[in-house]
Amino acid sequence: MLENPPLTNLQTRDIESLVHPYTPIHQLKSTGTVVMGRGKGVYVYDTQGRGYIEGMSGLWCAGLGFGDEEMIEAAIEQMRALPYYHIFGAKSSEPAIELAEKLKEIAPVPISKVFFTSSGSEANDTQVKLAWYMNNAMGRPNKKKIISRIKAYHGVTIMAASLTGLPSNHNGWDLPVDRVLHTDCPHHYRFGIEGESEAEFTARMAKSLRELIEREGPDTIAAMIAEPLMGAGGVIIPPKGYYEAIQAVLDEHDIMMIADEVITGFGRTGNWWGSQTFNMRPKTISAAKQMTSAYAPLGAVMVPEDVYQAYVDHSATLGTFAHGFTYGGHPLSCALGVKAIEIYQKRDIVGHVRRLMPVFEQRMKKIGEHPLVGEARYCGLVGAAELVADKTSKRSFDPRNGVGPQTSKLIEENGAILRALGDTIAVCPPMIISEAELNELFDRFEVGLGQAEAWVSTGALRTV
Ligand SMILES: Cc1ncc(COP(=O)(O)O)c(C=O)c1O
Repeated sequence: MLENPPLTNLQTRDIESLVHPYTPIHQLKSTGTVVMGRGKGVYVYDTQGRGYIEGMSGLWCAGLGFGDEEMIEAAIEQMRALPYYHIFGAKSSEPAIELAEKLKEIAPVPISKVFFTSSGSEANDTQVKLAWYMNNAMGRPNKKKIISRIKAYHGVTIMAASLTGLPSNHNGWDLPVDRVLHTDCPHHYRFGIEGESEAEFTARMAKSLRELIEREGPDTIAAMIAEPLMGAGGVIIPPKGYYEAIQAVLDEHDIMMIADEVITGFGRTGNWWGSQTFNMRPKTISAAKQMTSAYAPLGAVMVPEDVYQAYVDHSATLGTFAHGFTYGGHPLSCALGVKAIEIYQKRDIVGHVRRLMPVFEQRMKKIGEHPLVGEARYCGLVGAAELVADKTSKRSFDPRNGVGPQTSKLIEENGAILRALGDTIAVCPPMIISEAELNELFDRFEVGLGQAEAWVSTGALRTV
């Protein structure tokens, strides 16, 4: 392992006072934290003055990068006019109305109404509650289970974490709760059988889903939730034809598809929505992150008219629609959502992403040739390199060696922030990145990978 420098005063105060999410907190006293002070464009600077290209847009969210003056102005204007109001009890505010209208306009499928939350987890939690509420309204009280997938990431609240299909979100947390089913992960590289084509693999995924549905009983299953491409599970890109095959099975059994577009929404994959890139036909959609380019927290659930009418009918019986978050529809967040969408449109961010995609592809392919990398996968401006001990057999490293985290640390020391998802290194730069900056990001990625290779060889980690 590499030496850690002594902690600064801010780092010590940090460790003494914060619980850090998704961090090996037992090691923090020796590793310390990186305390960020400011950001501009695709760069962030820590409080010790070091600059980094933020190659992950923070957590897949700061699509417009940092310090965008138009966003800052929009925030100031809204703070002056109305810093907070809620939309409970038939109150409202103009930014919430305007953003809901915008989302209806740009949604990939017919959407009639928008329910705002403060995060992606809350959006997915709400999706489940709304599916239950709808089926109660429709006189189908047993149709309640939700299908998710192994390696999915849908957030961390109790239901969202249950939908998530990653062991670390379940082990030690008493999760998943009941009524959640996990079907296969559509990752051909990892789960394809020797000699199986992508088409055969896809057919097997659909067959396995059908068997799950028939085993559980279609009348007990309300919905399936899926990220168009899986993000935190390792940037897993489904094979061609996957959603067509999956949705045919769902349609046969009257099970609705919920698209979790929390990462893929607003241009990331080279279309406004991942659903468009992957021919997904969701009934309802969850959105968050790039909706405000992360300048303020916001999530949304988008539903079509027939689904909304079921809520209306049920509320007519029950008296009120008893669901809502204090900050759902927050005027600051919604004003920033409106401004972000306006910027995406007027600066043609989707067009910019498309123009950069060939460069991204070429650099990812080169990363894929590195001796440490088993598979380099990418779509639009998001990708990942899966590190392996043996390229031919695809053998993984022993997770205890921490090859992924150590590699991302080395890349960071070269001035680029990427994210280790186990031994997979993800890259998801701000969508405003220039071609020169993108190349610089990949140059730093490659230097870090080279150093990781030397470290792996010195430690003989391929054989341990
Ligand atoms: C696809 C997806 N869904 C949901 C979430 C949860 O969002 P949040 O962290 O805002 O609760 C995430 C977060 O990374 C995500 O990637």
